[in-house]
Amino acid sequence: MEKFVIEGKKRLEGSLAVHGAKNSVLPILAATLLTGESVIHNCPRLTDVDAACNILHYLGAQSKREGDCMIVQSGNDCCCCIPDDLMRMMRSSIVFLGAIIAKCGKARISLPGGCELGPRPIDLHLDALERLGVVIEEDHGYLNCRSQGRLQGAKIPLPFPSVGATENIMIAAALAQGETLIQNAAREPEIQDLAAFLNACGAKVQIGSGGDITIAGVERLHPAEHRVIADRIAAATYLSAAAITHGDLTLTGVCPEHLSAVLPCFEEMGCRLAVDGSIIRLTAPQRLEPLRCVRTMPYPGFPTDAQSPLMAVSCLAYGSSLFVENIFESRYKQVPELRRMGADIKVESRVALVKGVPSLHSATVRCTDLRGGAAIAVAALGAEGESELFEIEHIDRGYEAFEQNLASIGANIRRDCTSQKPML
Ligand code: UD1
Repeated sequence: MEKFVIEGKKRLEGSLAVHGAKNSVLPILAATLLTGESVIHNCPRLTDVDAACNILHYLGAQSKREGDCMIVQSGNDCCCCIPDDLMRMMRSSIVFLGAIIAKCGKARISLPGGCELGPRPIDLHLDALERLGVVIEEDHGYLNCRSQGRLQGAKIPLPFPSVGATENIMIAAALAQGETLIQNAAREPEIQDLAAFLNACGAKVQIGSGGDITIAGVERLHPAEHRVIADRIAAATYLSAAAITHGDLTLTGVCPEHLSAVLPCFEEMGCRLAVDGSIIRLTAPQRLEPLRCVRTMPYPGFPTDAQSPLMAVSCLAYGSSLFVENIFESRYKQVPELRRMGADIKVESRVALVKGVPSLHSATVRCTDLRGGAAIAVAALGAEGESELFEIEHIDRGYEAFEQNLASIGANIRRDCTSQKPML
């Protein structure tokens, strides 16, 4: 077991390069099953990426890392089954389903387990695949999926612009016969990145301006190289860490447009932002102002994944901030841990009211989920004294070299091995 020990109140100052986006690279790795050899640049070192590679290996593909680059070699032979233990290692393993069916004409995967963000159903994924001609049966916790020959293009209206469902359909429909139209598709930058990768491999994916995606099926995909976009949520997290420590941070290698709903929140808190191409510099004030209302929405709205780190900053703002979570049911798991550090937060269903306090204090806390864990780390950076964070494996799922990055800009943070159970 490992923990982070963070001594707060150190001003963060300097420059960080932001790693490749977790939520881009995972569906792209799933899609490499269909492309022969793929070279994926800017592939972050994350445990979720390791989990995706383990699934690829199980399915018969090979992968090797060379620096920031992942090379995947997938042959014609493909196992069509993902066992339960691999499915559970990564919550988004469901995104492999479309690729396996497109390649093998059948798939058997265990139903994804429960999730720390509340129920995370896959009905939209399954409905869409059925429209593409897949017959799906449930069998003792497994899904048996089969198609008669090639998948058939179809019109798929999504009742909600689910990111994962949109990705699964894009990958499956890339090799279908005929045209697929996804209505009310997700529009996140990671969807655009997956489309760019598929198109580099010979697919014909077109993203319309109004939320429609058209995929003209092709017979085969070919090898390609692709560079993954920067992780906008990691960027938002490091900006939060700088804001709460009244710091001065320059992020490089980012796409500011992808943060268009997030950057104004930092300005509302009184931070100064200078954006120049792929560089963002944030200079935080001594006194942070509250956020009137942050409503999480599908892109281009405010991303649910950035809600928790921003909430951590608002704990020290001069006044009350309001958050409304519209994407996931249980996205306030970090709140009890933030309260242990002295935060004043009331949650009523999807609404959280944060009353800023003059200071946070150190505590022994647990990371409740990936972004909740990041929020707790941000709070610890702004708190008086030395905090201990347990269950940091959640953070390792989505942040490359988290503690090295923070230490390089002045944080006092270290990773310790521990056999100790948190006394919570
Ligand atoms: C992805 C991201 C996650 C982000 C989320 C929303 C990855 C690996 N993860 O998750 O970081 O927080 O988008 O931006 O990219 N839903 C259904 N039925 C379905 C699918 C989804 O009801 O079949 C619901 C979910 O329960 C949730 C909402 O739709 O309430 C959004 O889910 P979705 O957009 O699918 O998120 P993920 O793809 O799981």
